[in-house]
Amino acid sequence: MEKKGGFIEWLDRRLAITAVWRIMMSEYYLPKNINFLWSFGVLTMLVFAILVVSGIFLLMYYKPDAKLAFDSVNKTIMMDVAFGWVFRHTHAVAASIMFLVLYIHIARGMYYGSYKAPREVVWITGFLLFVLMSATAFTGYLLPWGQMSYWAAQTITTLFEKIPFIGPDLVIWIRGNYIVADATLTRFFALHVVFLPLLLIVVTAIHLYAVRIVGSNNEDGIPMTKEEKKVKGIPFWPVFMAKEYFVMSVFLLFFFYLVFFNYDFAMDPINFQPANILQTPPHIYPEWYFLAYYEVLRGFFFSQNLGLIAFVASMFIILFMPWLDKSPIVSGKHRPLYKIAFWVFILDFLFLTILGKLPPTGLFAWLGFVGSIVFFLFFAALPIISKIEKSQVERAGR
Ligand code: HEM
Repeated sequence: MEKKGGFIEWLDRRLAITAVWRIMMSEYYLPKNINFLWSFGVLTMLVFAILVVSGIFLLMYYKPDAKLAFDSVNKTIMMDVAFGWVFRHTHAVAASIMFLVLYIHIARGMYYGSYKAPREVVWITGFLLFVLMSATAFTGYLLPWGQMSYWAAQTITTLFEKIPFIGPDLVIWIRGNYIVADATLTRFFALHVVFLPLLLIVVTAIHLYAVRIVGSNNEDGIPMTKEEKKVKGIPFWPVFMAKEYFVMSVFLLFFFYLVFFNYDFAMDPINFQPANILQTPPHIYPEWYFLAYYEVLRGFFFSQNLGLIAFVASMFIILFMPWLDKSPIVSGKHRPLYKIAFWVFILDFLFLTILGKLPPTGLFAWLGFVGSIVFFLFFAALPIISKIEKSQVERAGR
C-alpha cells in the first residue's frame, strides 16, 4: 500500500483508499490484553463466507419447487453430482457451527461488558445480525422440503396466528397459502438466497465500521488513551491478522473434521423423509441452536399466550443490555456479582437447550418453567447489580 503506483495513485485521489486502509487496517490498534475469544468476530465472518460459497454451488442444482426440491437435494446433489455431498455437508455443518461461533462471540461481549457505552451501536448491529442469521437459518431449513423442514415451518408460522387482530391474516400472507405450500417454499427461497444474505453483508459492514470508530474492548474494560494506542497497541494489519490466520487454520481443521467425519449432527434423520402434509412427526423440534428459545416458548405450558410473549422477549431482551446494566465497571473480570449472574445464565441456557429436546411433560415441563424464569431473572438482576456496584465505586472514590 505504501508504494504508490500510477493506477493506485489515480484511484487514491478519487477514493482515498489509503486513508480508509489506514483507519480500518494498518492504523487500527488493538489492546494487548485481549485473548483468543476476540477472534470469534473474524471466525463468524469466515463461516459466513463458507456459507455463501457452498450455497452458490448448491444453488446450481437446487430446484425451488415443492415437487422437485426434496429430490434435487437428496438425490441430485447428494448422489448424482460429483462432490455435491461435500458442498451439502459443508453448508449444513457451517450453518450449525455459525451459531456456536455466534453464541461464543455474544457471550464474550456479555462477559467483558462490550455492550456498554460507547459500544451500543456495535451491540445493536450485532443483535440485528443475530436476528437476520436466525431468519436465514429458518428459511433455509425449509428448502430441502423434508418432514422436519415442513413441520418446523408449519409450527413456527402458526405462532404468528396469536398476534391480536392481524394474526390469522398475517399467517396466510407469510405462507402465501392456508398451509405451508409451494408458495411458501419459493418465497423462503428468495429470502434465504438473496434478501437476507444481502442485508447480512450490509449490517456486517456497519458492525465492523462501528467497532473501528469506538475501538475494541479488552479483558479489563479500560480503554487505551490516544498516546497509549501507538505504544501499547498492536496494529490490526499485519500483526493482529497474523494471529487470526493461525486461529482460522486451527478452526478450519476442526470444521472440516466435522464436515467429513461427523456431519450427521447437523442433519435431522427425519428430514431424510420427504415432506408429508398429512402426517405430523411424533416430535417437532428445531435445530440445537434454537432449542433454548423453543424451551422458553414451551416453559409457560399453562398459557400459550404467555409462552409466546416469553419466546419473543427471550430473543429480544439481549438488545437492551446496554440500558439494563448501568454499572460504572465495564468488564465482568472485575465484577464478582455479575460474574456469578453471568455463569448462572450460561448454565441455564445450556439447561434449556437440553430440555428443548425432551418431551415437555411431567417434571420436564416444570423444569422448563423454572429454567425460563431463571433466564429472565438474569436480565432483571442487571439494574440491581449495577446499583450495588455504583454505590461501591462511589464509596471507594470518597
Ligand atoms: C454475522 C454476525 C457477526 C459478525 C460477522 C460479527 C463480526 C465482528 C467482528 C469481526 C468484530 C471485531 C472483532 C472482535 O472483537 O471479535 C466484532 C466485534 C463485536 N461484535 Fe460482532 N459480529 C457478528 C454478530 C454479533 C452479535 C450477534 C453480537 C451481539 C449481540 C455482536 C457483538 C459484538 C461486539 C460487542 C463487538 C465488540 C467487541 C469488543 O470490542 O470487545 N456481534 N464482531
